[in-house]
Amino acid sequence: MKFPPSFLDEIRARLPLSEVVGQSVRLKKEGREWRGLSPFNAEKTPSFFVNDQKGFYYDFSAGKNGDHFNFVMETQGVSFPEAVERLAAMAGLPMPVASPEAAAAERRRATALEALEMAAEFFERQLRSPTGAKARAYLAERGLGAEARDGFRLGYSPVEKFALRDYLAGKGCPAETMIEAGLLTHGPDIAVPYDFFRDRLMFPISDRSGRVIAFGGRALAKDIQPKYKNSAETPLFHKGSNLYNLHRARKAAHERGTVVAVEGYVDVIAMSLAGFPHVVAGLGTALTPDQCELLWKMAEEPILCFDGDRAGRKAAFRALETALPLIAPGRSLRFALLPEGQDPDDLARAGGAEAIGKVLEAAKPLVEMLFLREAEAQPLDTPERRAGLERRLREAAGQIRDESLRRHYLDDLRARLNDLFGRTRQPSEGFRRGAPRDAARRAPLAASSTLLQSSLFAARREASAPRENLILALLVNHPGLLVRHAEDVARLEFAGAAGERLRDALLGLAEPDHTSHDLRERLAARGFGAQIDALARDATLSTLWCVRPDAHENDADEVLRQALALHHKQRALNRELRQAETRLAEEPSEANFAVLADIRAQLSALEGVEATIEGFGASSGREDKSV
Ligand code: UTP
Ligand code: MN
Repeated sequence: MKFPPSFLDEIRARLPLSEVVGQSVRLKKEGREWRGLSPFNAEKTPSFFVNDQKGFYYDFSAGKNGDHFNFVMETQGVSFPEAVERLAAMAGLPMPVASPEAAAAERRRATALEALEMAAEFFERQLRSPTGAKARAYLAERGLGAEARDGFRLGYSPVEKFALRDYLAGKGCPAETMIEAGLLTHGPDIAVPYDFFRDRLMFPISDRSGRVIAFGGRALAKDIQPKYKNSAETPLFHKGSNLYNLHRARKAAHERGTVVAVEGYVDVIAMSLAGFPHVVAGLGTALTPDQCELLWKMAEEPILCFDGDRAGRKAAFRALETALPLIAPGRSLRFALLPEGQDPDDLARAGGAEAIGKVLEAAKPLVEMLFLREAEAQPLDTPERRAGLERRLREAAGQIRDESLRRHYLDDLRARLNDLFGRTRQPSEGFRRGAPRDAARRAPLAASSTLLQSSLFAARREASAPRENLILALLVNHPGLLVRHAEDVARLEFAGAAGERLRDALLGLAEPDHTSHDLRERLAARGFGAQIDALARDATLSTLWCVRPDAHENDADEVLRQALALHHKQRALNRELRQAETRLAEEPSEANFAVLADIRAQLSALEGVEATIEGFGASSGREDKSV
């Protein structure tokens, strides 16, 4: 069968090429590419490169290159359809069914795309014709000349109700196709569908390969509402997973290693003409996770550009909120705030490339925006409010799913907090009774025997039993999670043998269609009855509704994921802690002291994260808690 191009695109979009290649070739990250030994030739010096953004590999030793499908065909010796099948499975996509309906849908797509392309040409011609005089005057007034018009295929939709419809009908395009393309206003109470865009300056919106899939239309006069009208969602156009100018910006972004996102279409055009072609814009909605992914395909740290006013800041904070759970090493954002009351178009007009360059250079890292957002959310004039800030920062950092990045965020935010409060007020004492890095550095270095008695050592703890019980209780009450997380659960380290035995028994019994009741009966039959009853009576757990068998599995899943991640992290840190203690005892230097203090601070911060899980940890009665 012939695969729909959209299906192949979806596979490419979902699977980073490095992941596909990485199954058979060891790859190392090198700049924006991955590098490894050629799978086609025996070689000692790696000359095989994979570029995730381009979805392409290059093998300089064998002179080969290609995409996902070529790679699988070449290295696994399979046909194209088989390669598609394997990759679809890897991407978790069901294979398209070759039904007559599906084939018809694919044909319709083609004709809807044709209709959109014909519409774009029609609007372009109208702009140049006598009908377009008003729109040409508008463009001239905004300083948009032939370069903008031709480069961005600007057009004009006439005032008449049926101008486009009649034109397309004359080309043999059925009305349903025009409707499917989003070009007509229609509905149950509209007898004769008519042109969706009328008397507007037209901005074609393209998909990543440059095919027109929608339009944005700007009113020519101030009093017309809405100022911008965008095509409705259609099978071809999903606002949240496209970006304006993506197909043009892609190449420029790769060349420059960065990409900029602004708010408006005219901003994109003005910046492109000012020498910043690596610019995209949203499509009239707030930044979505899909759009973040598109941006990260082009660059590791896309710059989001917002107005410097209140509304702009709000939009920036909202984008921050969307991106926070998705960031990871090599996947972040920067924020450029424009001078108040100016958008990139105004700025380009007023200060040209230089002014834009300055604003982009001054873009703030995400962590700074996060700190700014929380720090200006409330006055900080009382201890309660300062403590509130601290908690909000910790909670915000807790949203970061990447474990190591989350740890670094906590460190960074703590340092910023110390800076903000200044040395005189010593917030560090309150922020972390354990001994934050700064306090440790300031502490006089005592003899090692004294050190070993200091509070740094006194409060060492594993303290994982409550969380181990939480994990076990979740698994007993939600057997579905057991199957889903079997691997993770299997490599869990427990503090005691009893927990480990129960875990092993659970894994041995894991079956997808077990109910919690089945599972408990089987466990009881194997002698775990008392242990399960003890879990059920655990005071800390009984206050957590998500643990109960009647809680929604997705909620339980969320808590389990967090608990597993924290558990692994804490075990790792405890190992580091023991090593650091040994090193300090052997060589009581200030540097070794600081390392120890740092690990302890990280452990405390971890507890802070834990406290945000549905109140878990708050009642576990441990001492030396942060705050
Ligand atoms: P702005 O209102 O900031 O306008 O909208 P702008 O981009 O500066 O436009 P000009 O310079 O007045 O022409 C920013 C973006 O928000 C979307 C559009 O994508 C616009 O480019 N928008 C705005 C809408 O979708 N609908 C509207 O009514 C207004
Ligand atoms: Mn503007």
